[in-house]
Amino acid sequence: MSTAVSSADSTPIIELRNVSKVFLGSVTALDDVSLQVFPGETVGVVGESGSGKTTLSKVALLLEEPTSGEMRLLGEPISLSKESRNKLRGVVHAVFQDPYSSLNPRFTVRQTLLEPLGPLGIKGDEAKERIMQALADVELSEGDLRKYPAQFSGGQRQRICIARALVGRPSLIILDEPTSSLDALVQAKVLNLLLKLQAERNVAYLFITHDLGVVNRVADRIAVMQHGVVVEQGLSAQVLRNPEHPYTKQLLASVPRVKGDS
Ligand SMILES: Nc1ncnc2c1ncn2[C@@H]1O[C@H](COP(=O)(O)OP(=O)(O)OP(=O)(O)O)[C@@H](O)[C@H]1O
Ligand SMILES: [Mg+2]
Repeated sequence: MSTAVSSADSTPIIELRNVSKVFLGSVTALDDVSLQVFPGETVGVVGESGSGKTTLSKVALLLEEPTSGEMRLLGEPISLSKESRNKLRGVVHAVFQDPYSSLNPRFTVRQTLLEPLGPLGIKGDEAKERIMQALADVELSEGDLRKYPAQFSGGQRQRICIARALVGRPSLIILDEPTSSLDALVQAKVLNLLLKLQAERNVAYLFITHDLGVVNRVADRIAVMQHGVVVEQGLSAQVLRNPEHPYTKQLLASVPRVKGDS
């Protein structure tokens, strides 16, 4: 959790204004969603399977086009155009659930970490320095640069994915269930790492998870999603201690240990 307290006076890094997404077959995955992520904060998005969390992350990453509504990056409207995507690339990066399928098995760690730097025009010594820093950030060693994903465990692979997200020095990292595929101990280590990096870098996180225990640990603010609708949004301490919406109450009731936890 970051120390970001009041964000009212700064420009959101990313903003969704009344965004809806209806897929073919008329599945409404997002229904009039408004959400902002401010510099340095963590916004947790929780909700059951199928509630629209991944769709939200894809829309925010300009991988899916909203059916209606508006997207803004640093206060400016953005779309799925090349220009918008290029702008986004310098500001927002992502880490996904499955560290197995999200790494190219034919790329060494060095190639994996170089990839996001090309489009940002970062090469030579600067690229080398960035890679060494990202590697140190996630507690991997220089010797790992020559290795391939298959030579690492799930937790180590997820750290490679985090390094790849960090290397371009984004203002925001969107994390879609980043620890769901990891066992409890490794999950705790990766969460600690993310918190440490945030404290050092002031990077913002949009942290998507179905796990209220995780969100309780990391999020400054929470958005609760049900059937594509954000049914409740607010400071996490408030939402988790005094939920207003029946769906949030129901979610909390299914995880008793979160209640009253600090
Ligand atoms: N490309 C697609 N085409 C059609 N329907 C889709 C597509 N992607 C998602 N959906 C539907 O949109 C809804 C929301 O899906 P989404 O993947 O965003 O949920 P989620 O909250 O991420 O779920 P989970 O916790 O299981 O990952 C679901 O009903 C899903 O079937
Ligand atoms: Mg999902």
